[in-house]
Amino acid sequence: MDRRFSLLFVFSLLLETSLAAASGKSSDGEDLVIQQVVDGDHPLSADHHFRLFKRRFGKSYATQEDHDYRFSVFKTNLRRARHHQRLDPSAVHGVTQFSDLTPAEFRRNHLGLKRLRFPADANKAPILPTEDLPADFDWRDHGAVASVKNQGSCGSCWSFSTTGALEGANFLATGKLVSLSEQQLVDCDHECDPEEPGSCDSGCNGGLMNSALEYTLKAGGLMREEDYPYSGTDRGTCKFDKTKIAASVANFSVVSLDEDQIAANLVKNGPLAVAINAVFMQTYVGGVSCPYICSKRLDHGVLLVGYGSAGYAPIRMKEKPYWIIKNSWGESWGENGFYKICQGRNVCGVDSMVSTVAAVHTTSN
Ligand SMILES: *[C@@H]1O[C@H](CO)[C@@H](O)[C@H](O)[C@H]1NC(C)=O
Repeated sequence: MDRRFSLLFVFSLLLETSLAAASGKSSDGEDLVIQQVVDGDHPLSADHHFRLFKRRFGKSYATQEDHDYRFSVFKTNLRRARHHQRLDPSAVHGVTQFSDLTPAEFRRNHLGLKRLRFPADANKAPILPTEDLPADFDWRDHGAVASVKNQGSCGSCWSFSTTGALEGANFLATGKLVSLSEQQLVDCDHECDPEEPGSCDSGCNGGLMNSALEYTLKAGGLMREEDYPYSGTDRGTCKFDKTKIAASVANFSVVSLDEDQIAANLVKNGPLAVAINAVFMQTYVGGVSCPYICSKRLDHGVLLVGYGSAGYAPIRMKEKPYWIIKNSWGESWGENGFYKICQGRNVCGVDSMVSTVAAVHTTSN
């Protein structure tokens, strides 16, 4: 780094830290508790926070031994949350429903992105004009985003990312928002990358959005959520009924790494299936996540639904400083189930694997 840049970097660290400090105060009592957890360093209060955590998320443990073990994991996660807070001052990190899980348990049971290779035969999305993009954009304001769902203890993130993208594309094609079935993908999609045997989509053991879209294209479409409801378990039998298809894929493509192209595809084609590294998401409570250091190893599939800048002014004066991401961990996680992550440097790999979907336009209905 040359001298000018290192000075700029130090300055931006200072600015971002003070901005975060300024936004840390909150009138909401619960936030104060979280701030206390992440700011203070009171070992004695861990006990108190664990009690609050158990009550808030309805946790109970079968044996005293189990309870004591989970408490020790919880204390480790309080330290991790403090560490994340220092690395990511524009977000708030603290206690979440995952605070009694080790990072390995969290990855195994709540993520589920299986392979990290691009499918060799995926279409490349055409380059779109970017001059007239709105400064802020959110598909939730336009009715293209179904309510937040919950994958439970199942590595099926990839299926939620896929249904979210097709729900949006189907809304654009038909004007109707129909919630689609993840369980169909969990039970029926065993699509493999032909160049990588043993890499099939495999229910709660993980999968990939692009291969799920390939399955959906070949199968003819996805059923409604209510016609094929989510159980969050691998049931082994596929109950797909072709006569009840609610939405079909016309085509899907991979979007280039360029953030303006990602924004243009989002605005033109609807919410995008994206992959991300989720390590900061285990402790994320709110705000714009913009960690100084984050792995780009993709392990989670989510849905990009918008971008904005409100309430966040980083040193890089950009028009669209953060992405708005829909997650599949219920509404009690993050900002009512959503996550914000800064733009500008492919933070946590968020720009690395982006897919856009077009749905079949139907005139019948
Ligand atoms: C994908 O499908 C949409 C809608 O049917 C169509 O307008 C578009 O041209 C297709 N894109 C490609 C790359 O085939």
